[in-house]
Amino acid sequence: MSFRDVMAAALYHPRFGYYTNLMGFGADGDFVTSPERHPAFGWLLGRQALEVWEALERPRPFGILELGAGSGALAEALVGFLRGEGLQDVVYTLDEVSPALREVQQRRLDGQEFRWEGAEELANFILANEVADALPVHRAVMRNGHLHELLVDAELQWVQASEPHPRLDAYFQALHVLPEEGQVMDICLELEDLVKSISQRLERGMALVIDYTASPPRDSLLTYYRHTLGSDPFVRLGEQDISAHVDLRTLVRLGIAQGLKAGAVAQRGLLYNLGFPQVQARLTGMTDREALGHLVDMNAAGGQIVGVFMLRGMPDGYKPAGAAGREWPEPRSVPSLPPNADEADFLGQWHEAFGEENSEVSNQTSESS
Ligand SMILES: C[S@@+](CC[C@H](N)C(=O)[O-])C[C@H]1O[C@@H](n2cnc3c(N)ncnc32)[C@H](O)[C@@H]1O
Repeated sequence: MSFRDVMAAALYHPRFGYYTNLMGFGADGDFVTSPERHPAFGWLLGRQALEVWEALERPRPFGILELGAGSGALAEALVGFLRGEGLQDVVYTLDEVSPALREVQQRRLDGQEFRWEGAEELANFILANEVADALPVHRAVMRNGHLHELLVDAELQWVQASEPHPRLDAYFQALHVLPEEGQVMDICLELEDLVKSISQRLERGMALVIDYTASPPRDSLLTYYRHTLGSDPFVRLGEQDISAHVDLRTLVRLGIAQGLKAGAVAQRGLLYNLGFPQVQARLTGMTDREALGHLVDMNAAGGQIVGVFMLRGMPDGYKPAGAAGREWPEPRSVPSLPPNADEADFLGQWHEAFGEENSEVSNQTSESS
């Protein structure tokens, strides 16, 4: 069978799928996404949302749609930011395929803004963070100038299809890239449906698709089980996450084909343009600063994740703040992680031993982190 079907079943089988049963991310889960890592991620994207709202001359209500919202961490931080700015007239719709995660979101998110129905309605701001990399992919290998699918047999072994796969061949022709002989690639044909469904629901405004990228596609399958990274998708079927990096060039091309204006920026640039240094300057806790730093680390999320902007009906000359930057007013407050118990313990012990007045350790550690 096609690996695409194996991956779809492993993640979304109505009874045994990984996401079907997933109850959360973060420390107790298998992997950590940016909104789980630090609330500043959603807070900064809130600035982007507010800027779109203003550029659109303040539509009321302001319709936001989040695809694949996980535990609801991004929704919580983003709406928290908008409330802080006095924007209450928001309809924030969560389109979530996993029944377990929908329940987690409903328990977490409190407020008249949130709803789980009407995801097909038009919105002004659409978000999909690490959703595209959770879509099933085809695996293929280049043989004699054509892409042959790698199928999966009953023993869960890879078997090369004897005939080329015309849709996979066409995918690379559209990219104007010829992979090398023998190269293995993971290709998401479902990106097209994702972009079409975003385009159908984007009335006028912005969609922001944020994800790990491999462009052009390569062999990028990754698995996560209890924070351990692997690359064998056939072990722990239904119990581990499987993802494949997203081909951002194709994402941009598909957006343009839908009549959207599209462009991309690395997550580090995106967050810096939205005022990341202002948050960084205010946080002092070691754990807080470390988690925040991860979002913009070029060797991790900051460099490997890219945000693709897709715009429709924005005013002439409009450039997204997340791509072009702008002067931000000094914020009244910035989001931080809840106090870390171990860190507080450590500082408490230090103070007990050496006295309150000696705050060298806390200062040094927060400055050097
Ligand atoms: C890797 S998780 C990311 C969760 C969250 N966005 C975050 O950043 O923490 C992928 C999410 O996408 C959801 N998902 C996958 N395919 C989907 C689809 N076609 N429509 C809506 N949600 C989907 C999963 O159930 C899960 O919530």
